[in-house]
Amino acid sequence: MEEDIITKTRVMLVVGARPQFVKSAPVIREICSKHKKTIELAIVHSGQHYDPEMSQIFFRELRIPTPLANLRAGSGSHAVQTATMMKRLEALMLEVEPDVVLVPGDTNTTLASGLTAAKLGTPVAHLEAGLRSGDMGMPEEINRKLTDHCSTLLFAPTRTAIHNLRMEGLGKLAHLTGDTMVDALHDATTFIQDRQSAILHRHNLRFREFVLITLHRPSNVDDPSRLRRIHRSLCEIGRETRVVFPVHPRTRINLDAIGAFRSPRNSGIMFMQPQGYLETLVLLKNASCLLTDSGGMQKESFMLHVPCVTLRRTTEWPETLTCNANRLVYDPKAIPAAILRGALNDKLKEGISCLKNPFGDGHASARVAHILETFEHDSRIRRTAE
Ligand code: UD1
Repeated sequence: MEEDIITKTRVMLVVGARPQFVKSAPVIREICSKHKKTIELAIVHSGQHYDPEMSQIFFRELRIPTPLANLRAGSGSHAVQTATMMKRLEALMLEVEPDVVLVPGDTNTTLASGLTAAKLGTPVAHLEAGLRSGDMGMPEEINRKLTDHCSTLLFAPTRTAIHNLRMEGLGKLAHLTGDTMVDALHDATTFIQDRQSAILHRHNLRFREFVLITLHRPSNVDDPSRLRRIHRSLCEIGRETRVVFPVHPRTRINLDAIGAFRSPRNSGIMFMQPQGYLETLVLLKNASCLLTDSGGMQKESFMLHVPCVTLRRTTEWPETLTCNANRLVYDPKAIPAAILRGALNDKLKEGISCLKNPFGDGHASARVAHILETFEHDSRIRRTAE
């Protein structure tokens, strides 16, 4: 009698930088809990982020299993970092022989893993495909565009992303899955409810009585004169309300170089280490406003109904600009007015809480897993279930 053979899709998921851990966690959880018989998952860490507060804390909080390998690519110029990852990924992909390589987001890890797989002829699945800021000066815009164009499966979080992919002739490969960061946020809801008062108490903070800041884009923090002007504006805000600033390692080095930590004008600013995912969500949910240059946090503040000011000229999340829920400000001098007289406005907050969430229903990971398990990959490398 013929044996009942179930074919498993061997998926290699490559992560390496902070936002990728968040985007991937719900997909990993979905696969490990409901698709074990059909998907064999190999998680690989590129090593792009390596400080405990940039990496390990996310694995712990998001309950991500220990990766099959950590490639320890570390920091370097874009070319060096990307090339180091590619070299090490190629060897690993040849050994593991994945049927599909899943690459989330838009970091150098995303591009390195997408490109390496595509060059080996292995199908690439891009999680969070189709985002465009229109600014090719951003390393992330280069990464996301090139990754989309070497992918076979494009998991788009929004209708805007689908539209962007169609405009570039990639519509046939695109699937509207919703955003897995919504799934992650849903998963974190109980933690936020249970732990927020203890966390606020620990930092001596009160609901809506502080502004949260996160800055790490090279365009903001690598130019000393721009960073000095930004710091001056933060000090001005700090004279009227508390400013809570978890500092990314890149930003810390550059703030230190301009003497910002020694400035006597810092009294209203509370600098802290980069925070984990759950603690960041608690801070965000309780802040009166967010000033950021992060992509993911623009979206999280929208979903948590916290007004956002984005220190950039463009955004890849245009949906957040609805009703001024998110405002783009580029001139550092304009930050205090945008925060203190714009985003802190109560009417604005009420307006944001009425907005419909365009990022999905919290089931994006289930759609992603379903598409992966039914993906018709090359039968040559299909494997039977144990
Ligand atoms: C990267 C991503 C960015 C993402 C961000 C989240 C790229 C091009 N950029 O930017 O899209 O929003 O992660 O944080 O992939 N460093 C440490 N310890 C670490 C990691 C970094 O000290 O664990 C320092 C090093 O000085 C390093 C610098 O931060 O050179 C920049 O790190 P890198 O990973 O190149 O880029 P990010 O700015 O973190």
